Amino acid sequence: MNVYILGIESSCDDTSAAVLLNNKLLSNVIANQDLHAQYGGVIPEWASRAHMQNIVPVIDAALRKANVKLTDISAIAFTAGPGLLGSLLVGNAFAKAAAYALQIPLIEVDHLQAHILSHFIKNDTSSCPTFPFLCLLVSGGHTQIMLVNDFFDMKIIGTTIDDAAGETFDKAAKILGFPYPGGPLIDCCAKSGDPDRFSFNKANIDGYNYSFSGLKTSFLYFLRDKLKENPNFIEENKADLCASIQKAICDSLLKKLIKAADDLKIKEIAIAGGVSANSALQQSLKSIALKKQWNIYIPSLQLSTDNAAMVGIVGYYKFLQKDFSSINVIPFTRNKY
Ligand code: KG4
Ligand code: ZN
Repeated sequence: MNVYILGIESSCDDTSAAVLLNNKLLSNVIANQDLHAQYGGVIPEWASRAHMQNIVPVIDAALRKANVKLTDISAIAFTAGPGLLGSLLVGNAFAKAAAYALQIPLIEVDHLQAHILSHFIKNDTSSCPTFPFLCLLVSGGHTQIMLVNDFFDMKIIGTTIDDAAGETFDKAAKILGFPYPGGPLIDCCAKSGDPDRFSFNKANIDGYNYSFSGLKTSFLYFLRDKLKENPNFIEENKADLCASIQKAICDSLLKKLIKAADDLKIKEIAIAGGVSANSALQQSLKSIALKKQWNIYIPSLQLSTDNAAMVGIVGYYKFLQKDFSSINVIPFTRNKY
């Protein structure tokens, strides 16, 4: 049976549409919103307006690229949450209207599940994790260690008690004078820096949980003091500062992941979400995997940050289970787990 899924993602500031034929990706179009860059974060009202402008052209482009007509689509999958309400409403309303008009199933998708299940999009070059596996989900809004027992049987075993890892990258970047989102810019600038030059206070909390607010404050106060002595301190030490804060974030992330994998005796380890694109995180993960004999799964850049392909793959597996949503479905803003 050929199942064509149209996936729609609009939870934050990226408008994305993808078409999948079963578990194979035919197209994945993403419209980013540069308008937030100079303000240091996403402005929710502007994001919703931009989604309204982008959604029809993005869906059109995804269908054209896949060479599929809207009338060929078997079901429409959309991100129901968590995310920004105004942003979610745009994808939700479009998905409902299209599913109603076409009289095809509507499928609500959890954004976190989507990041994790992006590893099941069929690809000629890489394999999928086998269950059970651990997934370190690290994005602008989330930092979780998930124990994934099956496609729809997953639970959070560790989570951040304050800031997310991506948020910490973005806040550190803002302090250093980078535009939003600063995570990728720190990654790039850190390449020529010394990660051991500066050290910052890292939280040490129990279990598999994370805390990043202390690290952020330590970074801020360190720079405040240094700038008093030398107003050019940031410019003169930018690469070392980027490499050092990046190392502090990545070391914290991996320390708890190692603990969880050791305790649960799991060697299938995945990472997902925007921060999984970080080159230092990927490098450290690869060397730990060699030592620990883990099988690791790292998404491609296109599938690590927000995208509709990951929504489409969840849609496909829910379609197989006939897990369809009511036309009355509404978005949710907070984690369901
Ligand atoms: O998954 P995502 O696109 O959106 C959310 O669901 O939040 O993640 C966006 C986050 C931002 O905080 C961004 O700075 C971070 O991912 N990010 C990175 C990198 N690429 C994206 N952080 C560090 N290094 C990167 N290369
Ligand atoms: Zn995301």
